[in-house]
This record gives sequence, structure tokens and C-alpha cells, in this order.
Amino acid sequence: MNVLITGGAGYIGSDLLHVLAGTDGLQLGRVRVLDNMQEEKYQALMNLPEGVEYDFVLGDIRNEEDVRRAIGDDTNTVIHLAALTNATLSFERQEATELTNHVGTQNIVRAVQDTPSVNRLIYASTTSVYGPTSGIVTEESECKPASPYGVFKLKGEQDVLALPKVTNGRVKSTALRFATVYGYSAGLRVHTVVNIFAFRAAVGIPLEVFGSGEQKRPYIHVRDVARALAFCLKEPRTEDGLFNVVGQNGSVNDILALIEPRFPKLKVVHTNREILNQISYEVDGSKLYSLGYSPELTLEDGINEFARLYGAFTRQPIAVA
Ligand SMILES: NC(=O)c1ccc[n+]([C@@H]2O[C@H](COP(=O)([O-])OP(=O)(O)OC[C@H]3O[C@@H](n4cnc5c(N)ncnc54)[C@H](O)[C@@H]3O)[C@@H](O)[C@H]2O)c1
Repeated sequence: MNVLITGGAGYIGSDLLHVLAGTDGLQLGRVRVLDNMQEEKYQALMNLPEGVEYDFVLGDIRNEEDVRRAIGDDTNTVIHLAALTNATLSFERQEATELTNHVGTQNIVRAVQDTPSVNRLIYASTTSVYGPTSGIVTEESECKPASPYGVFKLKGEQDVLALPKVTNGRVKSTALRFATVYGYSAGLRVHTVVNIFAFRAAVGIPLEVFGSGEQKRPYIHVRDVARALAFCLKEPRTEDGLFNVVGQNGSVNDILALIEPRFPKLKVVHTNREILNQISYEVDGSKLYSLGYSPELTLEDGINEFARLYGAFTRQPIAVA
């Protein structure tokens, strides 16, 4: 199986490169990354495991020629991760978000459609497509995205899921709606809830929490996202369709309760300024679990890991007698 990973040098991609190489039974041929390196995570391409043939194309998904060059004539599976991923910033850069997240995805879909060797496209969608809801949302629930990021991820998802029909079944397509991702990877980014909280708590910058902190959100460890992608490559029952990928639902206060004992410099300020962590929703991951996928890491594991990694800041001062 020759794989192309768009955005493979990012937060999730950098972990996926390791997890794919370590997944038994995948029969990986060449793994190619297409990335424009705008996030400058060059370290994502370092220390990759032996035993897999890696290849890198510096290019942009907004440019159809770059996409076709990266797919070539021998790619079998495309995992499409590249995107502008900052939901908060998407309000002030709507046009740029549309161009990368929707038009870029259309370029991938068209190139896949025209390339006979490709039989699978897996798309990184997001639970942000649901928007604020009451109760627990499933894949059947209505989508009311609250940010341009969510709007354009949803449009991309619709184009991807139309592929089996427009290719008469040659290309199977899967959209995975990832919960908010947390945890360390080589391409770590820190503008999502748990990761930014851990950084701020480590160094003593106050965390901004909207309102009471009781609003709930779905979360998943980055390693479990990579495992879910590897699982889908191996499991034919995921070949067509839409799946939530969730580790656990939790409130902002649940996360603070895990951070507090491990980060002595923690300071919290409550705000009524809208900062996107005011949105409350819970997501049901059982559709993918029922096929045999199960996340292995918890919020507690992820926060323990950050406490250890930021140890220079989180260790209690040594008492001097
Ligand atoms: N991290 C999360 O919490 C989360 C949650 C749900 C869904 N997702 C989705 O998962 C995917 C990967 O997210 P991530 O957290 O790894 O993001 P990231 O920002 O760390 O990685 C994105 C990668 O894409 C590259 N890229 C951006 N624009 C590009 C372009 N025009 N052409 C080529 N490459 C480009 C970047 O350089 C980066 O390496 C995204 O599609 C995102 O929407 C992420």
C-alpha cells in the first residue's frame, strides 16, 4: 500500500508517521508526505522509524498541480490532514480558511478521482462541525458549526463522502470527526484546550476559562487519533462512511482538576469574553468502537505526560533544611 499523507508534518501527521510504521499487517510500501511546511515542524520528519520508504513533496494543497504531483500514478491511499486548523483565528481569516480547507480538499478529491491507482481517501474532519448542542451527538445529529473552520471542514467532508458515487465505487472514502486532540507529538501545537492549558499552567500564565467551566467537550489523545487512522486502513468496515473519533468527554473543570495537583504555578481567570471554550457539546464515539477500535489513553495520561515534559517548571522547589 503506497500512502500519501497531506499535512503529514503537522501535529497529528508527525505521530501518524510513527504509528503507521509500527502497525502490524498494514503492508506499507512508500509513505509520502505532502506539506507546505507553513507550520515549520521540520522535526516531524526527523527520527522516523526504519523499514518504511519515506518520501517528501514540498507543495501546497491549494495548488492542483502540487496535489497531482504528490499523488503521482502509484498512490493507493490518501490520508488528508492538511488544513488551517486554528478555529479561533478562522473568524478573521475566513477566505484563507475556505481556500485551504475547502478548495484545497476539492483539489485532492478531483486528483483522487482522476488517478486510477487510488482506492481510498481518509479525511480528517472534526467534531467542531456539530456546534453547540444539548445532549450527546452522534454521526446522525444535525451539524451547526460555530466557526468558519467548522463550516469549511464540513464542506470538505461532503465532497470527500461523494467520491464513491462519482467513481462508481472505485474510491472508498472515510471521514473521521476527531474530537479536540491533546497530548505530545513531535509536531505539537498548543492552541487547543488541554495543550494550551498545560503550557500556561506550567509557566504560570493565567488560563482563561469561559463562565463556570462546566461546559463539556470531547477529547482524544494524539496517539489514539493516529491509531484510529491506522485502524481504518486495516478495517474494511470503515471503508465508506463517517465516524466520530473520541477518547472521552469532559468539562473544562474536569481538566483543571487534573492540572491543579500537577502544576504548582496554575492560575485561572474566569471570563465572559467569547473564546470558543464556551461551546458545550458531548460526542458519542460508539460507532467506531463497535467495529473494534478503542482509545488507550486518558486525559489524565496526557496531563501526566505534560507535567513530566514541563518538569523544569512543574517540579516543586526542593525544601532546604
Ligand atoms: N488537532 C486537533 O485538535 C484536531 C481536531 C479535529 C480535527 N483535526 C483535523 O486534523 C487535521 C490535522 O490537524 P493537526 O492538528 O495535525 O494540524 P497542524 O496545523 O498541526 O497540521 C497541519 C499541517 O498541514 C500543513 N498545511 C497547512 N496548510 C497547507 C497547505 N495549503 N498545503 C500543504 N500543507 C499545508 C501544515 O504545514 C501542517 O504541517 C486537520 O485537517 C484538522 O482540521 C485536528
